[in-house]
Amino acid sequence: MPEQDFHHLRQDGVSLLLDLSGQTVQLMHYGKALGQIESIKDWQLSQQEPVAHGELDEPIWPGLYRENSRGNIGRPALLGHRSGLDWSPKFLLINVDKAETFLTAVSQDAQAGLEITSKFEFVGAGVLEISQTLKNIGAADYSLDDLSVILPLPDQVSESMDFAGRWVKERQPQRRQIQPGMQVREVREGRSSHDYTIIQMAMTKGANYQQGEIWSLGLMFSGNSRHFIERQQSGRSFIAAGELLLPGEVILKPGESYAAPSVAASYSANGFDELTNRHYDWLRSRPNHPKRARPLTLNVWEAVYFDHNLEKLSELADVAKEIGVERFVLDDGWFGSRRNDTLGLGDWVVSSEVWPNGLGPLIEKVKSCGMEFGLWFEGEMVNPDSDVYRAHPDWILKIGDRVPPLGRLQHVLDITNPDAYQHVLNQTDAVLKQYEISYIKWDHNKFLIEPGHQGKAAVRNQTLAIYRLFDELKARHPGLEIESCSSGGGRVDLGMVGHADRFWTSDCNDALERQYIQRYTQFAIPPELLGSHIGPTHSHTTGRIHDLSFRAITALFGHAGLEWDLTETTAEELKVLKTWASYYKANRELLHTGKMVRVDQQDDAVFVHGVVSKDKTRAIFAWVTLSGQAGSRPNAIRFEGLENDKNYRLKAVYPAGEPRWQQRAAPSWLLGVTLSGAALSGTGVRAPIVYPEQALLIEIEAI
Ligand code: DGJ
Repeated sequence: MPEQDFHHLRQDGVSLLLDLSGQTVQLMHYGKALGQIESIKDWQLSQQEPVAHGELDEPIWPGLYRENSRGNIGRPALLGHRSGLDWSPKFLLINVDKAETFLTAVSQDAQAGLEITSKFEFVGAGVLEISQTLKNIGAADYSLDDLSVILPLPDQVSESMDFAGRWVKERQPQRRQIQPGMQVREVREGRSSHDYTIIQMAMTKGANYQQGEIWSLGLMFSGNSRHFIERQQSGRSFIAAGELLLPGEVILKPGESYAAPSVAASYSANGFDELTNRHYDWLRSRPNHPKRARPLTLNVWEAVYFDHNLEKLSELADVAKEIGVERFVLDDGWFGSRRNDTLGLGDWVVSSEVWPNGLGPLIEKVKSCGMEFGLWFEGEMVNPDSDVYRAHPDWILKIGDRVPPLGRLQHVLDITNPDAYQHVLNQTDAVLKQYEISYIKWDHNKFLIEPGHQGKAAVRNQTLAIYRLFDELKARHPGLEIESCSSGGGRVDLGMVGHADRFWTSDCNDALERQYIQRYTQFAIPPELLGSHIGPTHSHTTGRIHDLSFRAITALFGHAGLEWDLTETTAEELKVLKTWASYYKANRELLHTGKMVRVDQQDDAVFVHGVVSKDKTRAIFAWVTLSGQAGSRPNAIRFEGLENDKNYRLKAVYPAGEPRWQQRAAPSWLLGVTLSGAALSGTGVRAPIVYPEQALLIEIEAI
């Protein structure tokens, strides 16, 4: 390679600088836009490192693959071996294909019999997609343990943030100092998991929603994963993501390749909001991003659970029609012997016991009410007490004769087995062919234990099989939309966005918990992909009671819906639900295309978030009290994301009723006031005093 060989990829204020002048690809910089670079030489000089005592005699530049052979003592990007040999490769760059937005580098170690192809591509809004493929060019099988994407971080990173969680409490943020060692987030559940971070971030000190530099990586996959941030004893820091492979999961025969799941990298020079909005712009620009307005949805799970009967569900449909619901989703319990969660899973045939005339009468009723019909499936699971399991006990993921422990009384069907795959595909397809069903909610309620196919680890193939199955169903039924659910938010990730149209964000419909779950899931996934329902007054997962206005405003910032026995609503509640439904419909275009804005608070008792139209002429904000505030006079409500020198009219609106006031006199701006964007972000407006667990909706319009 010639000495001056480098490539500078740029998009929307983000730069990736690659030095191609040596034997291997060097990632010189990823982050802040660099100006025009004439020569790589001065860059190399500026980055040349001193040699420390106690280290190797030459500065260490291990490059993209961080091979041990190049002096790296941290974790290499590639781990594997050929019966104990070829475990320490040294790749030589042999070919580069490059254009303005991408670069593909092919490197080989002929002696180790390995070839890696790495592609860096700006895919929109400055988001960088990195895809790597390993090919076995040797003469014997190669056992692959790991192929990760590892990016160097600049020295100014000081903190990290990722998300952790559990059932009904997904995506809770954890912010830490980056210290020497590794901060690793591994998932071994065979699905992305409630505990999945979606993206891992490294930040400059004190970064907040509008300030600070942030780097993020997110694996575009729904199976096992590993994200980590590493600080080495030299002080160098790295951020990485890759598929977590189980032992022996990928053994490449001569000539075979492993295409690692891609990794999405993002960077912001202006805090979390910019990072989030880059993700949104990128995801929204993909051809498969849902285009039509997100229908107001009623899911009947928390209304009827397994108690299916036409009369009750028809009553629900009538009330839903009155409210203005556009999609009616029949959940678990319609098939086989599934009268409760102990039996029937896996038999995707309409139950003649509860549906003697099939689903036709209900679907007709729903259609006559002007709604689309959606249906629940959980195709990757079986109850031992089901026809399919009785006939094919060998169709589950397991090792030998050992049957894995049950979870929700179910086993995981091995859909890497073509017969089992075909069973699920055929039965689902038959139901979709028989009835007019435009939507399916696809659940996945058990994590994988000993996921073996004929004894070999099979998470990767199982994950690829569900992608294939979704794609096949969509190809056979044009217009079909799929909701990815996994006991709530157990399969929300950047891989599934390529195959599904909505995520069930969480089984928790408690509005207070949802404020946190939605806020942090929305770091990487836009609201139009995240189901958010108004649940029952008395939350089924926390026992809390919340006012309807709080539940309704919380549900507005997502793909809105209801999940509640609407036949029990009072006349007053119905009136509120109707105005809320009209408000959602009138404003969903803004809510689902605008920029996400969150405003930092000095008091943890409050959230302020909103959506600002791309042209900054309109915005809807929510001011949310999570608990009692510190001061008797609450802190001002500030707004970001607006044009400083534009004037805006701002007022409180109550499409779902007023919050519970707790004040002797109200601030008069609630009725309307005109201020500049600069004033709105600088001083804001005085907050009213309300009870904890309330929300106020504020509309802003440029004048
Ligand atoms: C778990 C899901 O998250 C719920 O919404 C519901 O579909 C149940 N499963 C049904 O069994």
